[in-house]
Amino acid sequence: MQEAIILVGGKGTRLRPLTNHTPKPLLNVAGSSFIRHQIAKLMDAGVEHVVFATSYLASLFEEEFKDFSQDLDISYAVEEVPLGTGGAIRNAGRLLRGPADAPVLVLNGDILSGLDLRGVLEQHQAREADVTLHLTRVSDPRAFGLVPTDETGRVLSFLEKPKTTEECVTDQINAGCYVFRRSVLESIPADREVSVEQETFPQLVAEGRRVFGHITSGYWRDLGTPLAFVHGSADLVTGTVASPLVPKPADTLIDPTATIDATACIMGGSTIGPRAVIGPHVIVDRSIIGAGVTVSEGAQIHDSVVDHDSAIGQNSRLREAVVGCHAHIGADNELPAQLRLSCGIRIPAQGVRVSGTAAACATIH
Ligand code: GDD
Ligand code: MG
Repeated sequence: MQEAIILVGGKGTRLRPLTNHTPKPLLNVAGSSFIRHQIAKLMDAGVEHVVFATSYLASLFEEEFKDFSQDLDISYAVEEVPLGTGGAIRNAGRLLRGPADAPVLVLNGDILSGLDLRGVLEQHQAREADVTLHLTRVSDPRAFGLVPTDETGRVLSFLEKPKTTEECVTDQINAGCYVFRRSVLESIPADREVSVEQETFPQLVAEGRRVFGHITSGYWRDLGTPLAFVHGSADLVTGTVASPLVPKPADTLIDPTATIDATACIMGGSTIGPRAVIGPHVIVDRSIIGAGVTVSEGAQIHDSVVDHDSAIGQNSRLREAVVGCHAHIGADNELPAQLRLSCGIRIPAQGVRVSGTAAACATIH
């Protein structure tokens, strides 16, 4: 029986306020929670039992899957206090059922990739590896774990989030998907917080264990930042990266209960949620519009997420923004890029503009 662990206990701080009330893996991308896309992919690769390593808002995972009737066993390893990535893997390992040398897939809960999981498992077995790490190349590796390998693919070292440019010895990074020999996973200390990146991997390499990289150059994205999150969703909608849950890629994904004015332009892999109302001459480009959101005439939304039940006023403009739920952005606002607006916030008409305000001065001088 092929088993997998998914690490889903992080707080998703870079995606706040979306993650204030929803864990990152349960956020909606391309019409389903992200974790459902991951699970569908695992099932396609023959996984029959998955253990969720949960901590932050743990009960919401059980809620999400309480009616799950497909052919997959789901277990929950709940951490009362977060155990770190290594501690979480060890803790979830208690619920595995396979033999001591069985290969166990371990996934970060926020990675979207075109990785062939069966291929990684095959390579792991062929090399009789203790651990196999999926590795990819990125233009700026500083936010990741650096993993140089030799010409046979053997991992030479593991350096998590380098601080200086001298430490950036490679652009080859840990892509957040591993295969562990089960007995190796069980050698991680069980009684304290452990980082798999800062402690377990460097230690296994130093001990001369058989740690190999599975290096690919295909689609890969960590959805942990707002821009990566909206772009990942758009890539799923358009089929730039495949998911079994998006059988017919298209330019947009519009819920049948949404109301879209005929003159509105929805594009770039945007998603429009249930009961959303999109007014005349609105532009929504590469964005996620949540359930019950209203976007009024002439508004423009680029590369942004607007969470459920919010309203965007006439002619307002958003770029690379994250708008929490129940927010109300009045008319004629022009928000600078990369703003994150709290749940329930109210910005009056013409309250924020990059190019100067058109409103008459309302103060008494
Ligand atoms: N159960 C549990 N407990 N899960 C945790 C904990 C914990 O204490 N801490 C983090 N996680 C989960 C998160 O929910 C996420 O799915 C995963 O572990 C990785 O955490 P992130 O916070 O997303 O880490 P990162 O993106 O900064 O870095 C990691 O991923 C990079 C690839 O995207 C590292 O593994 C890097 O080495 C790697 O390059
Ligand atoms: Mg991440």
